Amino acid sequence: MFLWFHYSRKMGCLMWACQILCIQLLFLCSQSSATLCSYEQSYALLQFKLHFSFINTSYNRCDYFQPSYAKMMSWKEDKDCCLWDGVTCDSLTGHVIDLDLSCAWLHGSFPSNGSLFLLNHLQRLNLAFNDFNLSHISFDFNRLSSLTYLNLSYSNFSGQIPSQIAHLSKLTVLDVSQNHFDKPSIETNTLKGLVQNLTELAELHLDGVNMSTVVPSSFMNLSSSLSFLSLFSCDLQGNFPNSIFHLPSLKTLDLSYNHDLIVVFPKVNWSSPLKVLDVSSTAFSGEFNPLENLKYLTNFGASNCSLDGLVPMSLGNLPNLVYIYLHHNFFNGSLPSWLFTQTSLRQVYLSFNQLTGTINEFHSKSLESLYLHSNRLHGSIPSSMFELVNLTGLSLSLDNSGATDLHLFSKLKKLKNLALSHVNLSSSTPFKSNSSFSQLTMLRLSACNLSEFPDILRKSDQLSQLDLSKNRIHGRIPKWMWNIGKESLYHLNLSYNFLTTIEHLPWKKLRFLDLHSNFLQAPFPIALSELMILSLSNNNLTGEIPHLCNMSRLQIVDLSHNNLNGTIPECMVNSSSLQVLDVRYNKLHGNLPKAFAPGSYLRTLNFDGNGLEGRVPRSLVNCARLQVLNLGKNNIKDSFPYWLGDLPELQVFVLRFNNFYGSFEFNGSLPMLRILDLSHNNFDGYLSARSFENLKSMMNLDEEKKKLNYMGDSYYQDCVAMVVKGFEIRLEKIITTFTTIDFSNNHFHGEIPSSIGKLHSLRLLNLSQNGLIGHIPSSLGNLTALEALDLSSNKLVGEIPRQLVSLTFLAKLNLSKNQLVGPIPRGNQFDTFQNDSYIGNPGLYGFMLSNKCNVDEAAQPKSSIFDGEKLNNSKWCEWKVVMMGYGCGLPLGLFIRYQVFSTRRPEWLLRIINRATKRFEMSRRRNKKTKQKLVSS
Ligand SMILES: *[C@@H]1O[C@H](CO)[C@@H](O)[C@H](O)[C@H]1NC(C)=O
Ligand SMILES: *[C@@H]1O[C@H](CO)[C@@H](O)[C@H](O)[C@H]1NC(C)=O
Ligand SMILES: *[C@@H]1O[C@H](CO)[C@@H](O)[C@H](O)[C@H]1NC(C)=O
Ligand SMILES: *[C@@H]1O[C@H](CO)[C@@H](O)[C@H](O)[C@H]1NC(C)=O
Ligand SMILES: *[C@@H]1O[C@H](CO)[C@@H](O)[C@H](O)[C@H]1NC(C)=O
Ligand SMILES: *[C@@H]1O[C@H](CO)[C@@H](O)[C@H](O)[C@H]1NC(C)=O
Repeated sequence: MFLWFHYSRKMGCLMWACQILCIQLLFLCSQSSATLCSYEQSYALLQFKLHFSFINTSYNRCDYFQPSYAKMMSWKEDKDCCLWDGVTCDSLTGHVIDLDLSCAWLHGSFPSNGSLFLLNHLQRLNLAFNDFNLSHISFDFNRLSSLTYLNLSYSNFSGQIPSQIAHLSKLTVLDVSQNHFDKPSIETNTLKGLVQNLTELAELHLDGVNMSTVVPSSFMNLSSSLSFLSLFSCDLQGNFPNSIFHLPSLKTLDLSYNHDLIVVFPKVNWSSPLKVLDVSSTAFSGEFNPLENLKYLTNFGASNCSLDGLVPMSLGNLPNLVYIYLHHNFFNGSLPSWLFTQTSLRQVYLSFNQLTGTINEFHSKSLESLYLHSNRLHGSIPSSMFELVNLTGLSLSLDNSGATDLHLFSKLKKLKNLALSHVNLSSSTPFKSNSSFSQLTMLRLSACNLSEFPDILRKSDQLSQLDLSKNRIHGRIPKWMWNIGKESLYHLNLSYNFLTTIEHLPWKKLRFLDLHSNFLQAPFPIALSELMILSLSNNNLTGEIPHLCNMSRLQIVDLSHNNLNGTIPECMVNSSSLQVLDVRYNKLHGNLPKAFAPGSYLRTLNFDGNGLEGRVPRSLVNCARLQVLNLGKNNIKDSFPYWLGDLPELQVFVLRFNNFYGSFEFNGSLPMLRILDLSHNNFDGYLSARSFENLKSMMNLDEEKKKLNYMGDSYYQDCVAMVVKGFEIRLEKIITTFTTIDFSNNHFHGEIPSSIGKLHSLRLLNLSQNGLIGHIPSSLGNLTALEALDLSSNKLVGEIPRQLVSLTFLAKLNLSKNQLVGPIPRGNQFDTFQNDSYIGNPGLYGFMLSNKCNVDEAAQPKSSIFDGEKLNNSKWCEWKVVMMGYGCGLPLGLFIRYQVFSTRRPEWLLRIINRATKRFEMSRRRNKKTKQKLVSS
């Protein structure tokens, strides 16, 4: 008490002295209009300005949080630089002490020893949200030795963070978070220096900095004043040091998205003020009990940590817990009881788990967001759910639910996002204008047994996303719908219904339109200038390809599986935005389009199963980003496009069932090619050894290390039809490790080059029905990933090489109808093949007894990429739209913007956006405080 009194008296004196000074200064100013800013400073700032142009690039994403503009444009020599936008001077000395150039459209290389570093009185420097074009962070920053605040985040820096940054020993806030793929990196020694020297540090933001070489123990001994540590997505590996949890002032700790970072909570001595703790997407041990010591914890995230067992009950003992993120785990059992009773809870994410049972009655009504979808819950919706008056977001999926009246949800007046799937909905009560969703922006009712558009939408003026897919809606879109979300709807999914007619699409803002798997017949006009993604596949559309060319933003067009005829309009392929054009299985004819424009963004062209003719246009080399080129099942007559080697990204190339002729040879190499299907053509000539040697991606046996993934993005996944183990199947998603060569049914002759044995990752090799001669090369025994080998119906001679026995994945072998001789080898897979693998080779002996019963267990092929779940999951080319609003607590508009513009993983983006939001709120608050301080002093 006494101390406080003493202190405030002292402050009072100071303020009094200051007031006098200020008055004097004011007097001075009015007298002589002297400028505060020295010429040197003004000059240094203007010199710095010269390095940049001012462009509104995507790095200025702060548009979503605060306006961005070319701040420096207003800097003029004839004005006191202390009055320039973003510049703050010390009111006594005139030194520039604060430079805030965040969101200022700066574009260009950052000068490594520029005039900026002359401003050696700078205390605060904010360069966030600009585009420094992958510049390295200059080691000259250490000249700004008075800095207490340095923000270089989100500004496209790259390279090593210089060790000199550790000289800025007065820093209380350091932020070098970045969000692009070319991450800057930091070395263990730099980090150690930083930890040792920055003794005043309160906030350390290193999100997205590459720390793959950093030993996590380098973080030990961080300043005891540290209250904020964020290490999101730093590629940290190994054990996270326990001592960090003991820091006495730590309030926020974010370790998320370091998949190989081992995190174990301490049993005792937690830093007690911890409020925010995120270990999502780490190797978190899953021990929750230690959390009970955290009396102030409000946010806790452990999503995507492969956690299993019951949802921890102990979380219910944390009285302050407000936000809980446990989605994308393997939790089972029923919903935790705290969900229904904890009175502090506002947001709970338990979606994407394996929870079972029913939803109980809610005794606490505090919830604002509740995400439970993609579990195995069943039963009906408890009546108390309609009393959660503050609910703004709700997602649920329920198996075998009883019928629920959709109108009940309109009691939830604040509801903005509602997503129900597999919930049996009825809307028996007639429409009442007071029971309506006036706040609703997102409605997803997929597989809800709806037979018409829910009239509860009649008042939803702000609707921006509507998903009514997988229902039983017949006929057409009712006229009243045309006025709903007229200015706001950008996402409309009506796929898997029974719609027959589209009369009108009045939603000018639509970016995403999915009408696939309906019964649409007549073509209809689509004039949506904002449209980016369009699927009309699996309808019954006739006539010509609809006119889409003046929609300049289109990225993905899927018209597959219709009855469209006519030709492919030239304008489709010289679009500057199109990435995917899929017109598979229509009745298109005429020549392939010719005018592929330079700089094309096309990544997938799928023309499979039409009647297209002519030759392969040479202008395809303009599509440097092409990954999939499928010209199968057409009437194309041409030689092998030898210039194909100029397509560096090509992964899937299919020419099957056409009239191609000549030999198989190409320029350059195809470093990414994984699927090559030339079957059923008229190719002839020798199989050249050189060509196989250029298929580098098929030689890579490191595939175990690659992630199993599908080609494409969350909107469009590539598909290909092929013969696998004798059956034509459609791989509707292409697994990124799938590697095949199919040259069957051609007229290739000569010998099989032994260099084919270098294609180590090959899973399928089919050279059947050709005119190949000579021996089976023993190098085929090196194709250890091979699962199917078909060399039948050729003129091969000699013995079956013994080396083939080492192909332990081989499930299907066909050597029939050749002129092979000698014994059939024994062992491994060869003990399982039946006679039909060898028939038609009179000189072969050692045939198996047909129907041999006692096949050795060990000889069964090992599990393969075709087997079980993996293959069965290869469903239809899927329009998988990540459920917006699921697993995120974001403004949805923001989210979809990022999603549409980017192909990065949504979860990742989400984090970035969350962080950016946090950051902005903080820096805004800070700026306000500093300004207030400066003004009041
Ligand atoms: C900058 O670009 C973004 C994205 O294109 C746009 O939304 C924003 O309005 C632009 N800002 C200004 C001031 O032009
Ligand atoms: C700590 O900072 C001082 C100057 O402030 C510098 O001389 C020293 O090299 C720094 N130490 C490390 C380990 O970077
Ligand atoms: C709903 O939110 C308001 C405003 O935040 C709050 O005052 C009220 O207590 C909340 N209602 C419940 C049931 O938690
Ligand atoms: C598509 O149209 C054809 C003829 O126009 C008809 O035979 C077929 O049943 C239709 N298919 C569907 C799914 O409506
Ligand atoms: C294309 O389809 C339309 C409608 O089915 C038909 O009238 C027209 O004759 C077809 N054109 C060609 C060239 O097959
Ligand atoms: C096949 O592997 C053996 C040894 O593993 C090697 O000596 C031989 O050169 C390889 N052949 C080819 C064609 O890769």
